[in-house]
Amino acid sequence: MISVAIDGPAGAGKSSIAKAVAKELNYIYIDTGALYRAIGLYAVEQAVTTTNREAVAALLSEIDVTLQHIGGHQHVFLNGRDVSERIRKPVVTVAASHVSAHPEVRTFLLSLQRKLAEENNVIMDGRDIGTVILPNADVKIYLTASAKERARRRYKELFDRGEDVHFDTVLKEIEERDYNDSHREIAPLKQADDAVLVDTTEDDLETAIQKVKAVILSKIG
Ligand code: DC
Repeated sequence: MISVAIDGPAGAGKSSIAKAVAKELNYIYIDTGALYRAIGLYAVEQAVTTTNREAVAALLSEIDVTLQHIGGHQHVFLNGRDVSERIRKPVVTVAASHVSAHPEVRTFLLSLQRKLAEENNVIMDGRDIGTVILPNADVKIYLTASAKERARRRYKELFDRGEDVHFDTVLKEIEERDYNDSHREIAPLKQADDAVLVDTTEDDLETAIQKVKAVILSKIG
């Protein structure tokens, strides 16, 4: 099986790019952030403080998270319930960032991610895929863009969805998430030594897709 790891900060375009490239190459696209989001959602629903490591760890035995691909789209199931839409709510975005810093949560999700990569040709996107989850991935890409450009993209996405947001708030949230994700003690966001850096600040989506595809094909082609 072939595995492609794509890591990088929030809003770098990982999911749109990985999804498109996976479709072209006929690989399964796996959005690992959705797994952390499902746990964040459960903690919010149980009214547990998401920064409280012990309290979140105590919930894990009650949680079953699975992924299914339906009509080419990834669906996330939390204890049998399809939560694919619910996990995109802003409150869950913050909760996911908090719970993902707890070592118990990362261990809980590790084997599920490795199993998916063992059984399928995958393009997996996340923060620690190339560094921790799949250190032997065939291709590793670190996808980034400036914080301002990432905030601009995220703002447009939220605006188009009809959400009432301010650009400055989106930028501040992106910067806070960058800080949380790259400063946590366990599996922080960082470029793997053997990852290819792709900066999409100046690129439109199609250009970025072709850049990433070219990197993959140059490694496995
Ligand atoms: O990619 P995303 O925005 O859906 O990720 C949600 C949160 O989960 C984000 O704050 C970082 C965390 N995450 C992680 O720690 N490791 C991953 N492989 C993917 C996401």
